[in-house]
Amino acid sequence: MNSLASIKIGIIGATGAVGVETLKLLSEINHPLDNIFLFASERSVGKRIKYKNSEIEILETSDENLKKIDVGFISVSSEVSELLAPKIVSNGGIVIDDGSAFRMKKDVPLVVPEINQQDLDSHLGIISIPNCTTTPLVMVVDAINQMSTVEKVVVSTYQAVSGTGKEAVLELENQQNGNVETKIYDYQIANNVFPHVDDFLEDGFTKEEHKMINETRKILHDNNIEIIPTCVRVPVKVGHSESLCLTLKDDISINKINETFRKYQGIKLLDNKSVTPYPMPLLSEGKKDVFVGRVRKSINNAREINLWLSCDNLIKGAALNALQILE
Ligand SMILES: NC(=O)c1ccc[n+]([C@@H]2O[C@H](COP(=O)([O-])OP(=O)(O)OC[C@H]3O[C@@H](n4cnc5c(N)ncnc54)[C@H](OP(=O)(O)O)[C@@H]3O)[C@@H](O)[C@H]2O)c1
Repeated sequence: MNSLASIKIGIIGATGAVGVETLKLLSEINHPLDNIFLFASERSVGKRIKYKNSEIEILETSDENLKKIDVGFISVSSEVSELLAPKIVSNGGIVIDDGSAFRMKKDVPLVVPEINQQDLDSHLGIISIPNCTTTPLVMVVDAINQMSTVEKVVVSTYQAVSGTGKEAVLELENQQNGNVETKIYDYQIANNVFPHVDDFLEDGFTKEEHKMINETRKILHDNNIEIIPTCVRVPVKVGHSESLCLTLKDDISINKINETFRKYQGIKLLDNKSVTPYPMPLLSEGKKDVFVGRVRKSINNAREINLWLSCDNLIKGAALNALQILE
């Protein structure tokens, strides 16, 4: 058994959009069934979830059960994370948290392993992963930073409903089938788009937009980078896309930028010569890479690079990033 296989892993939120993907990734690496512990809300306790040719029962998040795990992947609301994470840590375990509860805390590393895995050296038991819109953005900025500092990014997101969780996926499906009832969102999402993800703040930006700004700065250790986001929800089930305009310190050729994207671990460049000419959410669904395409310069400014990306918000945007941290 290798060292990872001997780790007792708990998935807290195992029935949710992210938790389901985490279990699939554990299945891909053949993590032993006996070293997987699944948790969800009281509603789900006792249910059995398929794992390979067997099943695993959902446990309640009692103190006794949480003591069984070495590492907890937490994919629940911030309130539940804040309650459960300290318990796991006080038992000597490590928490890798998908939510926003701890991301901006000083002693919590916020990590995308391709960029800042050295930050893991200073964790005190809790490690956070970024928001699913931040991860692909910082990977692109990090790649370009290797050639010239990115000074500013204007970004518009096209975010899938699974980013809100499993109930939002059901709401979209129901609306597509003619039931236009709204429970999760303020407005109908089927056949619609809204420039509104998470709560509005006093400055007119949303919480989600603030997350993109603050998390990018923390991961890159760069408080000067200017990020101007507009976060938009679109009627797509899985796969967030983003349109970026990046201002670089220097004039770097598109060939050089494309070459760097080709070499960057975790980015897949789709240029016009590829079979598929550009990234799309359906193409990124179920995949581990951040797909980047339509890389071009602004017509009137050689230091501005424009591009489009798509990324599976549940995989690299959440479950995979967390698992890579453990690895
Ligand atoms: N979705 C994404 O793209 C994405 C990406 C990055 C980060 N995240 C973050 O990941 C977290 C989970 O998101 P999600 O999309 O997977 O949500 P979700 O689909 O709504 O799933 C929520 C999970 O939490 C469980 N849960 C609810 N109350 C609980 C409690 N008191 N104790 C234990 N478990 C409880 C639910 O169990 P039941 O089934 O029993 O209700 C379910 O398994 C959020 O913090 C989110 O911000 C999500």
